Amino acid sequence: MITVRNYIYTISTGNTSYVMSVPDGKNSEHLHYGRRIMTDDQTAYALAEKYNNPYGNAIQGTGNMTLDNICLEFSNAGTGDYRTLPLILKREDGCISTRFYFVDSFLYEGLYRDRDKTGMPYAKEGDASAEAGRPWTLEMIYRNRTEDTKDDDGTLELRLVYTAFEDCDVITRRTVLQNDTGVTYVIEDISSMMLDMQGTDYVLKTFDGMWTRERHAHDKVLESGIYETGSVHGISSNVHNPFIMLSDIDTTEDHGDCYAFNLIYSGNHRERVEVSEYGKVRILTGINPQGFEYRLKPGESFHTPEAVMTYSDKGFNGASHNMHKFVTDHIIPQQFCRALRPILINNWEATYFDFNRRKLINLAKDAARLGIELFVLDDGWFGRRNDDTTSLGDWYVNEKKLGGSLKSLTDEIRALGLKFGIWVEPEMISKKSRLYEAHPDWAVSVPGMEDYLGRNQYNLDYTIPEVRDYIVDILTRLLKSADISYVKWDMNRPFTDLYSKSGTYPGEFAHRYVLGLYDVMKRLTDAFPDVLFEGCSAGGSRFDLGILSFMPQIWTSDDTDANERMKIQAGTSYGYPASTMGAHVSASPNHQTLRETTLETRFDVASMGVLGYELDLTRLSHAERKIIADQVRFYKAHRVLMQTGEFTRVYNRHGRVIWQITDEKAEHAVALLYREYSEPNKSDDILFANGLIEDAVYKVRVKESKIPVKTFGNLINMVSPVHIKEEGVLQAIIGKAYTMDGETEEYTVTGAVLMHAGIKLNSRFIGTGLGEGTRVMGDHSARLYTIDKMG
Ligand code: GLA
Repeated sequence: MITVRNYIYTISTGNTSYVMSVPDGKNSEHLHYGRRIMTDDQTAYALAEKYNNPYGNAIQGTGNMTLDNICLEFSNAGTGDYRTLPLILKREDGCISTRFYFVDSFLYEGLYRDRDKTGMPYAKEGDASAEAGRPWTLEMIYRNRTEDTKDDDGTLELRLVYTAFEDCDVITRRTVLQNDTGVTYVIEDISSMMLDMQGTDYVLKTFDGMWTRERHAHDKVLESGIYETGSVHGISSNVHNPFIMLSDIDTTEDHGDCYAFNLIYSGNHRERVEVSEYGKVRILTGINPQGFEYRLKPGESFHTPEAVMTYSDKGFNGASHNMHKFVTDHIIPQQFCRALRPILINNWEATYFDFNRRKLINLAKDAARLGIELFVLDDGWFGRRNDDTTSLGDWYVNEKKLGGSLKSLTDEIRALGLKFGIWVEPEMISKKSRLYEAHPDWAVSVPGMEDYLGRNQYNLDYTIPEVRDYIVDILTRLLKSADISYVKWDMNRPFTDLYSKSGTYPGEFAHRYVLGLYDVMKRLTDAFPDVLFEGCSAGGSRFDLGILSFMPQIWTSDDTDANERMKIQAGTSYGYPASTMGAHVSASPNHQTLRETTLETRFDVASMGVLGYELDLTRLSHAERKIIADQVRFYKAHRVLMQTGEFTRVYNRHGRVIWQITDEKAEHAVALLYREYSEPNKSDDILFANGLIEDAVYKVRVKESKIPVKTFGNLINMVSPVHIKEEGVLQAIIGKAYTMDGETEEYTVTGAVLMHAGIKLNSRFIGTGLGEGTRVMGDHSARLYTIDKMG
């Protein structure tokens, strides 16, 4: 709900309020963002900055008002606010001062009225019949008041747009600039949102990393100064995600104030947090200004990407839950909101480029036998691609390699009872390709300068309309040529040169590329609404709300090691629901880290995302097949909960981690307990839970698991009735055919016990025997527990 009264603007969601006013008839003062409050004139007066005394040598605004020391909604250049400005707009003569003053506001039910003119994805309405009702939008209109434009009859208009999503405590923001003057202005920097708040004692949480190490959470305790994160990779990047959090110093996972921000955008972004000398904090998010220079011609308007913000007084989990709900209900394509996702087998880590029809079919046959539902053919099926040096752009099937047409392969796989999916990388062009031979000018590079390649390839210039048409056309033909129900959309190299040979203005290139990308994604996903698209960018280099607007899930990381995934999936979970994270069980030793982990642990961790397998199933032992078949059965039995439930970070101390996925009514949950290291004789594990019903009674059971006999090394004889020689033939044979049962544990306790006391689990194996119920957990090992309300 949004109310406008006496120049007091109150945007309310279920649990939050955002309040502003226009104290001097020109500037908008930000009064409050946080817990929900009622506002009237007296409250607004109480919340406003008082200026009964001028501040030293500060620049004066209206009366004693010092714009440098006031929480503002927007701030003009050249008015004495020395914090980072939300807009640097250059006039023809180079002047950057502006005087955007408030003139009017519009309030209406529904989303921003010009959303379809932005060329970018935006938050969707969601279910109109939901109790919370439809979103509401408020536009605050400002005009640049100068002598030649007279009073507020300005012809350069700025709109700050706020949309309230009551159901998930999210408010979105965007800035719109309309040039109705006769001259071109240059936008050098424009934020999607600016938020000023009181106080300086904040912690900034960012999600940073690299290839195979994406989105690790990092905290910075803020002091006076500027803190910045962002990307200039041309994509949202694996280095710094656009999602950030700002919390109190003593905020924990479940308690305390937490603000979170994100951007519905997939290109260069910047998040800047400035702690001012006056004891205030300013947060700005939007397009990264590095290399950005947008020429706003007469009659044109510029829309920033939509920014997203939420507040919770229930700690990091509270803010994460708001974001999860928002992503599920208002970002991902609505037909996939709560649609169950298939368990897939991907051939990449099983075969890499080295496959033929026989290998693929054998893999598919084994997958079908184990209960897997979707077969994904990864890189290497097109052009002359047998390594990563060639053929991107030539999306023609290599029938020789596939042993026939794509349709014949798909039909054969369908006949096994599996659906079929395919990998593409449509934003790229290899120098060795038919496409490059025909259109060298479609590759992004600067003529006359040395080219810098990534993975031997160039970016394809999506600012050129013919390029976009070519891609839409060739992929449409591909998707129609066979029964394809899933597409993995990859993007393996970041941008270097921001240059188009077609004449796109270089300062606009990076942004226009993203607009071009959205155009292609929209056309294709609209044309194939039932195809499940999974975003990918060398793993998770483009895990953002822009991509999720078209593709309901994203390949989280090329790192499939369970231990590394614990950090990557935890970091990702702060801003994104588990149902968006592709997570696969791969081989051991792991191909990225060479770390060995048990098949059970690999599954337990992957099952906390959208489950898939990515290993050569044809080489598995009988024992391993049995384990996978059991895992698939377990996942299917709990899939509704695991894919549509709420993900919570319950515990993380001393290398012990607990995560939980809970259904809406808190009747069923699955908890993951993870141990980074096996520590002999340290206290035993305690299972805590979160968000259950205090006095309801729950049955807690450990998921059945199997222990490979080789786990015991030469201790095998301690547990085996017949003598077995370690590393001997017998051990190898037994190891392949036989596993021991893991512990069984079962408890009946109230929600209160699980939440406030915790269950002391059975002792772990510590070298002094293997009793009944001993929990055998080495380094990097996990367990799953089901928690079900009784009665
Ligand atoms: C990227 C992806 C991988 C795989 C390869 C294929 O690295 O992240 O999952 O698809 O490309 O080349």
